[in-house]
Amino acid sequence: MFNALVLDRAADTLTASVRALDDDALPEGDVLVAVLYSSLNYKDALAVTGKGKIIRGAFPFVPGIDLVGRVEASTASAFAPGDRVILTGGGLGERTWGGYSQRQRVGAEWLVSLPQAMTPLRAMEMGTAGFTAMLAVMALEEHGITPDRGDVVVTGASGGVGSIAVALLARLGYTVVASTGSEDAHGYLRDLGATRIVHRDELGQGPARPLDSARWSGAVDTVGGETLAAVLSTLGRHGCVAACGNAGGHHLNTTVFPFILRGVNLLGIDSNTAPLPRRRQAWKRLALDLPKPAADLILSGIIHLDQVPAMSEEILKGGVRGRIVVDVNS
Ligand SMILES: NC(=O)c1ccc[n+]([C@@H]2O[C@H](COP(=O)([O-])OP(=O)(O)OC[C@H]3O[C@@H](n4cnc5c(N)ncnc54)[C@H](OP(=O)(O)O)[C@@H]3O)[C@@H](O)[C@H]2O)c1
Repeated sequence: MFNALVLDRAADTLTASVRALDDDALPEGDVLVAVLYSSLNYKDALAVTGKGKIIRGAFPFVPGIDLVGRVEASTASAFAPGDRVILTGGGLGERTWGGYSQRQRVGAEWLVSLPQAMTPLRAMEMGTAGFTAMLAVMALEEHGITPDRGDVVVTGASGGVGSIAVALLARLGYTVVASTGSEDAHGYLRDLGATRIVHRDELGQGPARPLDSARWSGAVDTVGGETLAAVLSTLGRHGCVAACGNAGGHHLNTTVFPFILRGVNLLGIDSNTAPLPRRRQAWKRLALDLPKPAADLILSGIIHLDQVPAMSEEILKGGVRGRIVVDVNS
């Protein structure tokens, strides 16, 4: 028997409780994993509280969009018992049972080997948030946004994706402007490498005009809505924004002018469906590009399975900085 956080839905009420299960309860899958850690993302918080329609599978359901663990058994030729593996997204914790469990059976198609240079704890400190931040940075690089082209702004900077994006970009030599609504996060963001801090309201009111003075060459946007519209209107010539979140809204009210008069690029980031070669590349880079002191700062706490529901409420209130790891075995 092993423990898992199980969600049940009766009528319109969702309940979460830690329960003992056995392997027979697990879904079909090529690889049986002894899970070491999972993590708590914004999307997990929406799933666990029922405040977002994240779960597409039947109830009872085990959530958790990330896991790292050791392979116990595998029918997939790419993995053997003892291998250490990471799984983020790919429907985990949304369509299929997820990482809030001491054991899980998963499909091999989204599995990545844990890089040599990364501990299991560090992998879940990164989780989907770090993977997404890395994909966003790679997208900017591939579209020619080099450090010498000017400032890069990160919105929702004190959150999981934002914190890791700030640290990665600073490490890679960019001048990073952190946009945050958290007054008490300024020191933290400077410690991660931000050169300047702007208040989230500067961008959160939306564009002052369709094309405004150019302020940045690139952006990682985790907020969406009016913030993304304002970023688009203030990007310089041939600037790029990697759009990866909607913490502030999912509508986008913009004009074509940034695109047709400045050649601005709107780059979409979807970590969930990133293909396997891209996953391997991003995890390898995460293991190498994130400096240890920054990574240590980003870990804001390690919680147990039974603390996930309460901490999910905190995340949705915006009261959590950096990343929360879930130690499923403590
Ligand atoms: N595309 C993908 O594949 C992908 C992957 C992971 C996450 N995401 C999305 O990216 C976003 C961030 O995820 P996360 O895990 O980093 O979440 P998080 O840790 O909760 O961070 C979100 C941050 O956004 C800011 N924020 C929160 N509410 C806001 C509001 N109403 N208006 C403006 N800013 C607000 C806050 O930063 P400050 O206090 O610093 O302002 C907060 O810390 C979420 O929308 C998530 O769904 C997308």
